[in-house]
Amino acid sequence: MNSSNIKKIDILSEGKTKKVYTTNDPLKVIIHYKDDLTAFNGLKKIFLPNKGIINNDITTLVFKFLNYYGIKTHFIQKINNREQLCQKVKIIPLEFVYRNIVTGSLSKRLGIKHGKKINEGIIEIFYKNDKLKDPLINDNHAVFLEIITYNELNFIYSIIKNINNILKTYFLNRNIILVDFKIEFGKNNKNEIILSDEITPDTCRFWDEKTMEKLDKDLFRMKLKKKEKIIEHYMEILKRLNK
Ligand code: TMP
Ligand code: ASP
Repeated sequence: MNSSNIKKIDILSEGKTKKVYTTNDPLKVIIHYKDDLTAFNGLKKIFLPNKGIINNDITTLVFKFLNYYGIKTHFIQKINNREQLCQKVKIIPLEFVYRNIVTGSLSKRLGIKHGKKINEGIIEIFYKNDKLKDPLINDNHAVFLEIITYNELNFIYSIIKNINNILKTYFLNRNIILVDFKIEFGKNNKNEIILSDEITPDTCRFWDEKTMEKLDKDLFRMKLKKKEKIIEHYMEILKRLNK
């Protein structure tokens, strides 16, 4: 079906920061970016006017760049300031975190100094389960839970390393250090595993290359900035990506 004939039908799901709608094309969904900003599994929540517009733009630019470098994603096109057309996928209930620098939960969990470089990179998987508060698990757990196979995990790990290599340079060329990020994958109707969800300052840590200032959701998690100021940092990321 031609993308210009696409119409929203029903709400399929609503998460903390996005809504997903079915469309008149059974293989496509419309994803709507909201202005809510949450942390610690929704325990902390604020309304941040225009955040949805900025994150829709940021994730559009990043996914287009990844598509260009051959990474298969759910993204088809941005259709208006808050919405994008995407392939319909069944999300694999795992959050994949890739780390270039120690900070956040890794620093706490292993007692390692915040800011230490991880040359080889570290991949972690978290089980997406609100009741259990998204616990850190390993490959054996994920396969035992019948969420995924070892072959699929290995396939995803190789894509994640590629994504990190592509994005590290992409951001660094814009004076942004990609500290760590969380991504999710889904399966489309052909059973292909493709990058889904979003890549934004809500789901990544970005530090300014020169000042090491945080330009992401940590400003909110750690109460570093007032609400009005957080949005300026998100806008700064978008400005640099648009250059
Ligand atoms: P962490 O240090 O809190 O585990 O976070 C690692 C990275 O993953 C960081 O960029 C934030 C991102 N992240 C999410 O996007 N959603 C989550 O639920 C968690 C726990 C982390
Ligand atoms: N728990 C995650 C975080 O702290 C995500 C969220 O609740 O929105 O970033």
